[in-house]
Amino acid sequence: MIIAIDGPAGSGKSTLGRMLARALNLLYIDTGSMYRAVALATLETALDPANIEAVTDLAHRVDIKLEGDPDSLRVWLDGIDVTERIREDDITAMSSIVSSIPGVRRAMVARQREIGKRGAVMNGRDIGTVVFPDADIKFFLDAAPEERAARRFIEDKQVNPCATLEQTLAEINERDRRDSTRADSPLKIADDAIVIDSTGLSIEAVLNCMLDHVHRNN
Ligand code: DC
Repeated sequence: MIIAIDGPAGSGKSTLGRMLARALNLLYIDTGSMYRAVALATLETALDPANIEAVTDLAHRVDIKLEGDPDSLRVWLDGIDVTERIREDDITAMSSIVSSIPGVRRAMVARQREIGKRGAVMNGRDIGTVVFPDADIKFFLDAAPEERAARRFIEDKQVNPCATLEQTLAEINERDRRDSTRADSPLKIADDAIVIDSTGLSIEAVLNCMLDHVHRNN
């Protein structure tokens, strides 16, 4: 079974994807962490992200591994554990930039199809539209930008004590704009996706709603 979860930043994809994968005993794959790993490799090799050929070539060459169960997923880049590093601000901004390069997307999508073919809960921006258009169930999670920023701000504060809510909201808005307006595989709702707006809802309420859909459709 393939369950696709798409949605903008801070919409709860990771938390709910993990919980859903655990409840259904499926593999959990966070595709955003793959773009984040490419962003880190780009920064580490001091590549200009405007150099599309070089970044695409890099995306094909790097070794990215996602390991562990849903609650303790670790991300490895060329044999180094980069799980914490790829959550930092510079990587967050760069991941949105490199993910707009069509060649980078092709490289990641091929890997995602390979990893997910035995069944998974996979989250990202284009899972239900491009990676697995025939996914058994597609969810599109959303929430008001202010609420998504408030959720993200709690995480941002842990890595950057100087973070402000205004800054987090501005970054989220900029990332949403870039992720939704890029030419290749923009963030958009698949025609057959179940849209859940979690503004004002608890995590448990959203999880129950998702599980309900899964059980009703299988
Ligand atoms: O889900 P995330 O915030 O960790 O993703 C980081 C960036 O990667 C995000 O700005 C958009 C991009 N991304 C994408 O383009 N397609 C995906 N399937 C997942 C993430």
